[in-house]
Amino acid sequence: MTSFILNNSPVSTDKSPGMTLLEFVRDVSCLSGTKEACREGECGACTVLVGSRRPDGAMSYKACASCLLPLGDADGCHVVTVEGLGGADLTLVQKLIVGHSASQCGFCTPGIVLSLTGFALGAARISYEGAVDALDGNICRCTGYAAIRNAARALCEGLAGMDAAPARRVGELISAGVVPDYFKDIPSRLSRLKTAPPQAAQNAVLVAGGTDLFVQKPEELMESELCFLSKRSDLDYVKEDGEVLRVGGATTIEDFRLSGPVRRHFPALERDFLLHSSAILRNKATLAGNVVNASPIGDATIILLALAARLVITAAGGKKREVPLDKFFLGYKKTDLACGEIVSEIVIPLLPAGARYRFEKVSNRATLDIAAVNSALRLVTSPEGTIADLRVSAGGVAAVPLLLALESFKGRKPDAAAAEALADAASDAARPIDDIRGSAAYKKLLLGQLVRAHFNAAAGEAA
Ligand SMILES: Cc1cc2nc3c(=O)[nH]c(=O)nc-3n(C[C@H](O)[C@H](O)[C@H](O)COP(=O)(O)OP(=O)(O)OC[C@H]3O[C@@H](n4cnc5c(N)ncnc54)[C@H](O)[C@@H]3O)c2cc1C
Ligand code: FES
Ligand code: FES
Repeated sequence: MTSFILNNSPVSTDKSPGMTLLEFVRDVSCLSGTKEACREGECGACTVLVGSRRPDGAMSYKACASCLLPLGDADGCHVVTVEGLGGADLTLVQKLIVGHSASQCGFCTPGIVLSLTGFALGAARISYEGAVDALDGNICRCTGYAAIRNAARALCEGLAGMDAAPARRVGELISAGVVPDYFKDIPSRLSRLKTAPPQAAQNAVLVAGGTDLFVQKPEELMESELCFLSKRSDLDYVKEDGEVLRVGGATTIEDFRLSGPVRRHFPALERDFLLHSSAILRNKATLAGNVVNASPIGDATIILLALAARLVITAAGGKKREVPLDKFFLGYKKTDLACGEIVSEIVIPLLPAGARYRFEKVSNRATLDIAAVNSALRLVTSPEGTIADLRVSAGGVAAVPLLLALESFKGRKPDAAAAEALADAASDAARPIDDIRGSAAYKKLLLGQLVRAHFNAAAGEAA
């Protein structure tokens, strides 16, 4: 049984936990405001809000693509579709969309309204840039984005004086007309909801964000037993521990990107991870899921390789082992993960003194696209200005995410000759194939260029 609150109504259903939430709200609940278009997380027409109770009792709402969200993941949550925002009057976001002529055919509009409402409910800080980032997964084919951005700007201006503390956020947004009055009772209603006990991982398909799984095999998942990692709150954390960051195996990319420890120690990652899919996917997709799906082009994987990350792998019986990320990939989509094991933690060493980090991604579209080639670099220079350590990773150029062997660069000056030698080494190590994202020759050339650009920028900063 899956139990949750859908808008203002309790729901208890024995439908398959692997049915998508999109199918459930449209076909079972007959709420057709949530639109169906790509069914692959690409367009945002199916955006809904998923709210869960935080340990302090306040709610945390995230805008998510319901076409990739399994019904079972909604267990114990508050799911909000556009019908759940409507009362006698339009909400503030809806009024601003109308007032700024930010809708024409209206197909994308429910998704845009929910993404902006989710931003108002969840953003740590209300800013125009943040509101635009929150819309990066919502595609509109006819209005033109200027009008939509004007509505987003007006929302931020309207909420400028709001008390953004999580405990008071919902109350403030009810007063501002962003969400209806019934939202205030949701935490107590959720606390009384009888939810499903966590399933055992063995023999079940482990679903983290589901953003890869539900693109690859949605029909098969309808019939499978599923284990939802999102219910493992013990694996949802980003914390500093001496010289490392520890990231729980259920932590989403968006929570990681915006966490205090990441902002303090790896400030560049806040922008770099904006290049990973879109907000409605990053709100569910996990860092560990990106690693375990073993795509040779995964953005998080390439960044973590350059940062010398390690994986803590936990077996069903609780036994743990630690594996350096560069030893985890055994072949195309083959990993060092045995049946019943999960990646319970990712350990990221903090940057040593004199270290520089950079990430570059080239894709057919600037954002919301899988890379043709991506690459990350960590350069550590000694007090004398020579290379003390150099790690360069590359995606899209081999069957596995590639870490270049660069021992021979240690002790060299990080000068133009070293940059050329590095670009050559990267191109030589690359074994790309021709595919939809580019020819093998193009990717080889591109990697050389990216690596040269990285290195020159990092060496310049170090100097
Ligand atoms: C529209 C779209 C755009 C995308 N854009 C990008 C992009 O720009 N860059 C990019 O890198 N990727 C992109 N992706 C791919 C995908 O979103 C990411 O790889 C994501 O990080 C996968 O994480 P997840 O939590 O959703 O994994 P899931 O789909 O839940 O799981 C993936 C696999 O990993 C396993 N798994 C998950 N977590 C664990 C764990 N802790 N331990 C053991 N096994 C585990 C699952 O069983 C499954 O086999 C995109 C996907 C879509 C649909
Ligand atoms: S239908 Fe396009 S993102 Fe879900
Ligand atoms: S209003 Fe038509 S797609 Fe956006």
